[in-house]
Amino acid sequence: SQGLPLSGKKVLITAGPTHEPLDPVRFLGNRSSGTMGFELAKKAANLGAKVILVSGPTNLSVDEETIQLIRITSAQEMYEACHEHFDDVDVVIAAAAVADYRPKHVAQEKMKKKDGDLQIELERNPDILLSLGARKDNQFLVGFALETENELENAKDKLERKNLDAIVLNSLKDDGAGFGGSTNKITFIDKNSGIKTFGLKTKPEVASDIWEEIISRIHA
Ligand code: C5P
Repeated sequence: SQGLPLSGKKVLITAGPTHEPLDPVRFLGNRSSGTMGFELAKKAANLGAKVILVSGPTNLSVDEETIQLIRITSAQEMYEACHEHFDDVDVVIAAAAVADYRPKHVAQEKMKKKDGDLQIELERNPDILLSLGARKDNQFLVGFALETENELENAKDKLERKNLDAIVLNSLKDDGAGFGGSTNKITFIDKNSGIKTFGLKTKPEVASDIWEEIISRIHA
């Protein structure tokens, strides 16, 4: 892999949803398919990088000869896997849809239904990307933002607050963009407010665009 744009680089990518257990058979989760993160991982490997992919529950797979796949379930497990590898990597892309909250109590046995309604107490999960930003040394750190209002402004705030080098804004206003689907429409924003908007593309194409933007900045 000598001479490829990411030769000698190690990248960490988070993907998919997290599942937050309530009891042995139930969880809180979301509809993230993991596709964007898996495409970013495959592209990075093709560009010559060593890749660690930390993924929540998905139906996807990768060639584990070329990509180190760490499967986790909860946000806490994703947090631990990311921090374990953070010192060794050059680029991080946080594409996972991490649950912001988890059930405060996890029942050891399947919860029985009772008369009347049920209230579930939730506690905050750690913000993985924020914690990596706080630890950042020389890593190039990229986040995702899914906003429904004041998109650019909120994405820029997030970039600053989490100490990122760039953020990928998913445009939800556009048909075919974002969660679950096979296409996406993004805006790439760097920490110097350099902004590039792309058209509606397939997720493999979007992954190429994102890597092109990152590579031009880490080699600059
Ligand atoms: O703050 P918000 O959830 O909108 O930020 C989205 C970005 O932060 C994504 O890159 C996501 O992967 C990351 N994130 C995280 N840990 C969380 C929440 C979000 O790493 N608990």
